[in-house]
This record gives sequence, C-alpha cells and structure tokens, in this order.
Amino acid sequence: AASSAAASSAAPSAPAARDGHRNPSSVRVLVNKRNPLQPADWAPADLTVPDIRSTRDGLTLRAEAATAAEALFAAAAADGVDLSLVSAYRSYSYQQGTYAGWVQQHGRAGADRISARPGHSEHQTGLAMDVGAADAACTLEQCFGDTPEGAWVARHAAAHGWIVRYPAGAEDVTGYSPEPWHLRYVGTPAAADVVRSGGVLETAWGFAPAPGY
Ligand code: DAL
Ligand code: ZN
Repeated sequence: AASSAAASSAAPSAPAARDGHRNPSSVRVLVNKRNPLQPADWAPADLTVPDIRSTRDGLTLRAEAATAAEALFAAAAADGVDLSLVSAYRSYSYQQGTYAGWVQQHGRAGADRISARPGHSEHQTGLAMDVGAADAACTLEQCFGDTPEGAWVARHAAAHGWIVRYPAGAEDVTGYSPEPWHLRYVGTPAAADVVRSGGVLETAWGFAPAPGY
C-alpha cells in the first residue's frame, strides 16, 4: 500500500515515453502543431477502404479505424442518422497541396487555424476522418455541429472509439478552430477517458497546449 501510494503521488512520466503517444503506428499517437509525425512523411502500412457511404471513391483508413468507422456508421443508421465519409487518410504530399490551397485562400495565419501543415495532420496517421450528413448539409462547416448528424456524432462517437478532436472552446490547446466533423480514432477506453477529462486530447494525455508551431 505504501509503495503504491508513493507511486501514485510521484510526478507522472513524460507522456512521450508512455502509451505509444509518439509512435506513429500506435492508435494512441498524439499529433499536433508541437508533435509532428516522425518521420514527417510516415505512412501507414494497413490502409483499407471502409465499407461505408463516402462522398468519394477510394478513401482509406487504417484497418482498425476502418472497422470502427463501419461500426459508428452502422450505429448511426440504426438511430436513423445517415452519415457520409468526406475525407480520411491523407499522405504527406496530399496534405502539402491541401495546406497550400488554404494558405492561398486565407494567408498563413488563417490557414493555420483550420489546416495542418504536412507532417502535422492526424489525417496522415490513417486514424482520422471527416464525416458529413448524407444530405450534405453543412459539410465541413461550423453548422454541421447543429445538424442531427453532428449532434449524434458528438454524443455517440466515443462509444465506438472516436473523439471529436477539435471541440469548441479549445483552440488555445488544440491550435484549431472547432471542427465538429473531424473524428480521431483512439480506441474505446481512451475515448471514454478523453470524454471524462473534458474532451481535449492533449489535456487527457498530459501534453502541453499546442496553439502554434
Ligand atoms: N483540419 C485538420 C486540422 C487537418 O488539417 O488535419
Ligand atoms: Zn479532418
């Protein structure tokens, strides 16, 4: 008892050394503006096309995330909520183009609030997906959070191992304006932990805020 009390009161070890948070092939990898993929051009080896409604052919996720996406979409459909996959795995080079497009449109500071620089996007892990309503209302827009589909996702994603990664009110920690459509797969126990601790991944896992690069 004495030793476990001592252990639990000791300072936690650095999050980087625990739980695979710095391992790109772990479902618990932490990726943000201060924690890029290492190596920067890392790519998953087990990408697969999930069997779910998608806005484009050929969107892929890592195998475990693809299965969890199928379960999430099936549970939504059982509740009368029809989701569609909008974006999933994006390679380093694909993200270069995506980010550059946003810079052209909004400038660098504006782009950095909504788009990750290459090597810093969760989409490159194969564990993140953007979802929309099947009727395409509010796709990739703030108002998605107010649709029945957005509300369903916010309430039920964690039961299937997904979290809403960029919640409202957390831009000073996550570095991004709210994205009610961007889901990150972490597994069911970890997703429950994140919800219990307030909904922000960095906080749940003991990482410092990452508002900028
Ligand atoms: N929109 C998110 C932050 C990304 O680009 O990964
Ligand atoms: Zn996204």
